[in-house]
Amino acid sequence: MIRDALTIRAANLADAAILPAIERSAALLFEDVAGSEALVGRPVIDQATHARWMGESAYLVAEWRQRKRVGFLAARPGGAGALTIIELSVRRAFQRRGIGRALLERCLADARSRRIGEVWLQTDLTFPWDAAFYLSMGFEVAGPPALSSRVQLAARDDPRSASLSGRNREWMVCRLSQGADDAMIQTSTAQRA
Ligand SMILES: CC(C)(COP(=O)(O)OP(=O)(O)OC[C@H]1O[C@@H](n2cnc3c(N)ncnc32)[C@H](O)[C@@H]1OP(=O)(O)O)[C@@H](O)C(=O)NCCC(=O)NCCS
Repeated sequence: MIRDALTIRAANLADAAILPAIERSAALLFEDVAGSEALVGRPVIDQATHARWMGESAYLVAEWRQRKRVGFLAARPGGAGALTIIELSVRRAFQRRGIGRALLERCLADARSRRIGEVWLQTDLTFPWDAAFYLSMGFEVAGPPALSSRVQLAARDDPRSASLSGRNREWMVCRLSQGADDAMIQTSTAQRA
């Protein structure tokens, strides 16, 4: 099982060089979605930005057989008590093996232990891999009224902003203080399946 060969660890500066290639590889998935093929070559977070953000952020890397880096999760502080996931990417050849879920589980577990109350992310719910995944992990669609400016703060100076604007992206939130038990139950169920 790939989970046995998988290590989820904090990212370090040496990882920054490889993360853009992982994000580009992950985006090959968009070839499968009619009308979204243009996203395959979209801009990715560059090495210098990763290196800068890592100092202030929660960055995780998924490593296969302690050798190949196959996925990453980048999150930034969204103000007091909030964390915003900026990117979650798994290399195309390693997708659908539980790596994305393992990264997200670790992110939520770390956030809980740091007493972070809310984890936010922005995603396009029309993609088949997004809604079911995040809902099963305890996220809910937040909608603009619930969206505070402090959350948007985390998306500042994202080099991809121009290419992402105009897309139908929804904010989702996982409220760890209220929803932790539900999220953990659903996560455990998914792990057993
Ligand atoms: C989203 C992404 C990180 C998921 O990583 P992954 O390792 O493939 O995901 P997992 O194997 O852990 O699957 C988690 C759940 O996601 C959903 N999912 C993942 N890939 C899917 C696909 N191709 N089609 C439908 N659902 C999918 C499923 O609900 C899955 O749970 P299940 O296997 O129990 O049914 C990966 O697809 C990716 O890198 N996508 C391109 C970049 C992207 O869209 N990132 C998200 C930005 S918010």
